Amino acid sequence: MIDIRNIDEENAKKQLEFLAKEIEKADIAYYQNDEPYLDDAKYDELRHLNNALEAKFPHLIREDSPSRRVGAKVKSEFKKVELNVPMLSLADIFNDDELHDFVLSIKRFLNTNEDISFSAEPKMDGLSFSAMYEKGVFVRGSTRGDGKIGEDITENLKVIKGFPLYLEGEVPEIFEVRGEVFMSKSDFLALNEANEKSNKKLFANPRNAAAGSLRQLDARITEKRNLSFVVYTWGEVSKVVWNSQEEFLEFVKGLSFPVNPYNKICKCEKDLLNSFKELIENRAQLPYDIDGIVYKVNDLELQKRLGFLTRTPRWAVAHKFPAEKAITRLNNIRIQVGRTGALTPVADLEPVNVGGVLVSHATLHNEDEIKRKDIRIGDMVVVQRAGDVIPQIIEVLFDKRDKDLEEFKFPEFCPECGAHAIREEDEAIRRCTGGLTCPQQAVERLKHFVSREAFNIEGLGDKVIEEFYKDNIIKTPFDIFTLEERNRPRDLFSFEESLGLEKREGWGTKSVGKLFEAINKSKKISLQKFIYALGIRQVGVATAYLIAKYYHNFRDFMNAMIEKDIALLISIDGIGSQMALDIVEFFKEQHNLDVIDKLIKVVEIEDFNEVINEASKLTGKTIVFTGTLTKFTRNEAKSIALSNGAKVSSSVSGATDFVVAGESAGSKLKKAEELGITVLTEDEFEEMTV
Ligand code: IVH
Repeated sequence: MIDIRNIDEENAKKQLEFLAKEIEKADIAYYQNDEPYLDDAKYDELRHLNNALEAKFPHLIREDSPSRRVGAKVKSEFKKVELNVPMLSLADIFNDDELHDFVLSIKRFLNTNEDISFSAEPKMDGLSFSAMYEKGVFVRGSTRGDGKIGEDITENLKVIKGFPLYLEGEVPEIFEVRGEVFMSKSDFLALNEANEKSNKKLFANPRNAAAGSLRQLDARITEKRNLSFVVYTWGEVSKVVWNSQEEFLEFVKGLSFPVNPYNKICKCEKDLLNSFKELIENRAQLPYDIDGIVYKVNDLELQKRLGFLTRTPRWAVAHKFPAEKAITRLNNIRIQVGRTGALTPVADLEPVNVGGVLVSHATLHNEDEIKRKDIRIGDMVVVQRAGDVIPQIIEVLFDKRDKDLEEFKFPEFCPECGAHAIREEDEAIRRCTGGLTCPQQAVERLKHFVSREAFNIEGLGDKVIEEFYKDNIIKTPFDIFTLEERNRPRDLFSFEESLGLEKREGWGTKSVGKLFEAINKSKKISLQKFIYALGIRQVGVATAYLIAKYYHNFRDFMNAMIEKDIALLISIDGIGSQMALDIVEFFKEQHNLDVIDKLIKVVEIEDFNEVINEASKLTGKTIVFTGTLTKFTRNEAKSIALSNGAKVSSSVSGATDFVVAGESAGSKLKKAEELGITVLTEDEFEEMTV
């Protein structure tokens, strides 16, 4: 976490830009794809940092600041639902002091010294929903979406057990209830077990399972999953017939909506603290996941006076649970070898229950981390699990250490192939120098090559790759594409034998046929996936996309790399110099070029295709923007250029076609003039676009 006390404005600006992008990415992964990659604690930390920076530099708050929106835009396939009363989020607090500040700020705002009553409710870890009833009939269901526009999940809510389609008794004509849909821990485990057996995707946690089950375009799938729900608040209502949160909960209970039995009224701050402690103690025993406790001012009159901040109510807050910990013995430190030769230490632990989950491995990050914490095999250690992340060892209990435990020595040779493992200066990671002669690196590269974001070959899972490698059936990516040929039955006089894959254990004619089908299908591949599949160090999905977008076809990219055109590569927004060096390095290796050579003969790499307007004069041109633009924002100008088929670069070089110069342009304009590059005004640029 950076220290914001001494941060200067320029740095703050950079941080805010980074945070806006990072939080948006995390939001999309979490809300739209149900596949979070940041753990909750890290995510909260980013949001906190963003808020703190904005509080310090309010004039730097960005248009696209995460503080200006809730959640993420909706997945497009769902019908949209406009939410007349927005579904908001809650501010988070993490400790007793922050709770004290929360209560105090409310008292100050209301100008009172008297105790305030709160409704304290378990914070359900599922996904929020809204359900509209008109004249007592359920008419529309929605997810939170971005808070103002949600996804239509009417049919999905209808198939949840116990979901009321009609309300009996007196209810307001327009009555929108809101709450949480979730999956119990046991239903989650059962679902994953069944999915594992049928080779389907496993969910990371009950929350993702609930989200993945509810947000199905085909409600018959939702129906097959066991989902539950509770109601905890309301949205649009024609007449509010309750005076407090407590009365609301009673009211909906009377209408047969489930409400959480642990909801509790607390009369003062001490009560709040007690209910928090009580819930933490009972957390593991609850049949569903909760990630904290929500405190809401009980009295509606007071709620109304307190009102809202931009994104959150002033009258409520979420008190999050700390990460869960346990003590166990470190049985071994195992060294794993990755695709790029990185040696990663993994802790094998005496299995221990951490907040309801059996943990037997933990990450150790790297060599320095082990040294810094002086972690030794045989130590008793504190293990922490936060959210969905891999558990971590946070400390060693030195007073429990046996006298004769030896300091851990990180291997200087690869445990898989015996080659030297070296650590470059300034690098945290030690790497095996065996390259493709290291069987483990070769296997990991193959796994990467066939993975979903790359060639996506179903049937070549990790186990199969390992076996085929061991038995000399697949040694390099190219071997995948000769598999069918090598498996063909041979005539009597042939020298080579058929591979006879169908005779292998676990295989038959049908599954082998299916595998070939999958391999053949994969031969047609998009440029970005192909680049990603190569397994170049540091080149993940996003970078591969940037490269594809920039070079459009593989030949151009490869030629530029062989000519070591680093300058151009670095000019791509999002590619730094270290990354560029790694990319060029990859193309220096003859064995990589050999594999690529063979591959491009058998696969069809599709050029990067973006819908571009061929009529534009900017198609295929490289543009640099400089100076202060007055007609557009930088991002706008960039996106106009991109959608006109141009490439946008941040530095002027011989490859630049146009420089668009705004007010007070400096060195780039000068360079353009020196190089004789056409300089455009904003108006001229606009005229060239379509
Ligand atoms: S009240 C304006 N009550 O937490 C406040 N939210 O961070 C509306 N949540 O989006 C929310 N349990 O998904 C409320 N008892 C509870 C809750 C709860 C879980 C979730 C909900 C909301 C998020 C806010």
